[in-house]
Amino acid sequence: MTNVNYTHFKFLPMSTRVLFSMVLLVFGLGYCMAMIQVWESHAGKDGDPMISGKDLMIAYSGNPEGTKLETALRGPMQDMLPKEKRDVIFDWLHNGAKAEDIPTKIDPILKEHCVVCHNPAANPHLPDFSSPQGLTKVAVQDEGMTIPTLVRVSHIHLFSITFIFFIVGYIFTHAVVRPTWAKCVVIAIPFLSLITDVASWYLTKVWDGFAWAVIVSGAFMGVAFTIMWFTSMWQMWFGKVPEGVGEDGSVSCIHSR
Ligand code: HEC
Repeated sequence: MTNVNYTHFKFLPMSTRVLFSMVLLVFGLGYCMAMIQVWESHAGKDGDPMISGKDLMIAYSGNPEGTKLETALRGPMQDMLPKEKRDVIFDWLHNGAKAEDIPTKIDPILKEHCVVCHNPAANPHLPDFSSPQGLTKVAVQDEGMTIPTLVRVSHIHLFSITFIFFIVGYIFTHAVVRPTWAKCVVIAIPFLSLITDVASWYLTKVWDGFAWAVIVSGAFMGVAFTIMWFTSMWQMWFGKVPEGVGEDGSVSCIHSR
């Protein structure tokens, strides 16, 4: 059998280590931003400001108890309005969203606080509140993300996250982790979680309990990312050369099992 070796971090050229570290640094920041973004866009949809399984159920499969407008005003659009004005809108929705109340009660609020962004010139893909039709579209029952939206988000997600984990995983291959199977598991987990994550978005529409699979997949991805990030940085700059690394920095794959 041929003995295939890999090189431990400490024996990589300085320039390669600097490159790896800078990439990890920026991906680490990116990961934090991604978590904030998940929080910002989902937390509070169920009325409780903490992020929860219920928030994700609402995001993917819709809110059987509410309208899109209410979900948005309890979630991402919450800060756009003071509480009294939000209550005016909620009362209107809960009292049947009557068309005759729109010009007197609702339109003035929307004009003052919402139309800056919600008009076709500023954001063509947002509901248009400069016309009554735009409002009626979001005053109907919230059915969550539509399949075309999910398809669009999933293809971007699948491509971009694979790219990130390929790079982070590739850097991590230079680490000595025993047993070797554990190292392989850490490398494989993000990709498998990515598949269960995206699949669960669609499955949540069928049974909203799959929102938990979205959360668990995300947690696995985060744990694998953290392990790879810290192990790589540690072994690259701080840790001693682990046992079993040859004088030229090579680690024998046969003997490291
Ligand atoms: C600063 C710009 C801005 C303002 C002001 C704003 N929105 Fe939004 N709104 C957005 C953006 C961007 C999105 C889409 C991203 C998201 O959901 O977080 C959005 C999404 C929404 C959605 C969800 C649309 C959908 O199809 O699911 C609703 C409903 C909504 N806004 C209502 C409001 C209301 C009501 C107000 C006024 C109280 C308001 N927005 C003020 C930028 C704005």
